[in-house]
Amino acid sequence: MQKVMQEATYEAMQEAMQSNMLVCADNLAFLPRLAAESVDLAYLDPPFNTGRHFVGRKGSLAADAVFHDTPAHFAVDPKVAAHLAENFAALTAWLKGMAAVSAPSLIAYLNFMAPRVVALHRVLKPTGSLFLHCDERTAHGLRGLLDAVFGHDQFRNHVIWNYHAGGASRRWYARRHDDLLFYSKSSAYQFRVQREPYAPRTAIARKNIAKFHPDGRMLTDVWQISRLGNNDKAERVGYPTQKPLALLHRIIRGSSEEGAVVLDPFCGSGTTLLAAEQLGRRWIGCDSAPEAIAVVEARLRQQCPDTPYTTAPPPGA
Ligand SMILES: C[S@@+](CC[C@H](N)C(=O)[O-])C[C@H]1O[C@@H](n2cnc3c(N)ncnc32)[C@H](O)[C@@H]1O
Repeated sequence: MQKVMQEATYEAMQEAMQSNMLVCADNLAFLPRLAAESVDLAYLDPPFNTGRHFVGRKGSLAADAVFHDTPAHFAVDPKVAAHLAENFAALTAWLKGMAAVSAPSLIAYLNFMAPRVVALHRVLKPTGSLFLHCDERTAHGLRGLLDAVFGHDQFRNHVIWNYHAGGASRRWYARRHDDLLFYSKSSAYQFRVQREPYAPRTAIARKNIAKFHPDGRMLTDVWQISRLGNNDKAERVGYPTQKPLALLHRIIRGSSEEGAVVLDPFCGSGTTLLAAEQLGRRWIGCDSAPEAIAVVEARLRQQCPDTPYTTAPPPGA
């Protein structure tokens, strides 16, 4: 159930927050338009600095989708860099230090991410949390960046999302995980313990049986959830790098209450938005690719046609 805002009055929309919000824009232009301290949970799954161009699967809902994960995409407006240098001296010094030891492509990527992480920190409530999804290419750099913006004492977990599928290698250990960097805005963050079944062979001595919880063991920082594969026809929309709903359900359940506001500034096919909707949270999604926004809209029409949400023109349109 889509309503279109003619004016980009995001703050007014948010104040009432009667509706969810979906915006096609560069998130660096969009995030400063959101009210400060208005978001409970941010999850972001940005490009991973792979150097690749991603395209949607032929014949799928996302057949027209395309996004670029190349250095050209990470070019930073000098005005943005100057603003950062003036206002965030420690962060700028850290970026310079990284430049002395890291590959230029990683530095370009971190310069692209830095102002976005700063903008996300501003919109989080004091009780809010952020999950940054990345992999071994950038996890070390992003961890330093998040320390510089959030403070190292606000680091909560480096969650390993372990999936089973993937290639093999004779030259190193086959890669089978992504990384989720979990930070909170303060130590008063929301967190709910979740449980999963005990491993099938867990031996329970009779004398210990009372110690075992009927809902299983508490989740650890290693999450085993399958990646979407050819058999997941009901869920898979063909968007490149689409994440499973099960992963987002876990993040949202653990770090937000019902009715909370969940933000995904790189929303792609809208997995976070759909997961938030299914769990009774409000959501804000942004993606710079019109093809991604079209996939989100088609997905919402199919899965929850009565969900109200507002689309607005990009800032400055
Ligand atoms: C890895 S995909 C996200 C996939 C998503 N998690 C899903 O489950 O479908 C990254 C997305 O970021 C978007 N993107 C890249 N740069 C952006 C920017 N500056 N602002 C907003 N979106 C951007 C791309 O268009 C792409 O859809």
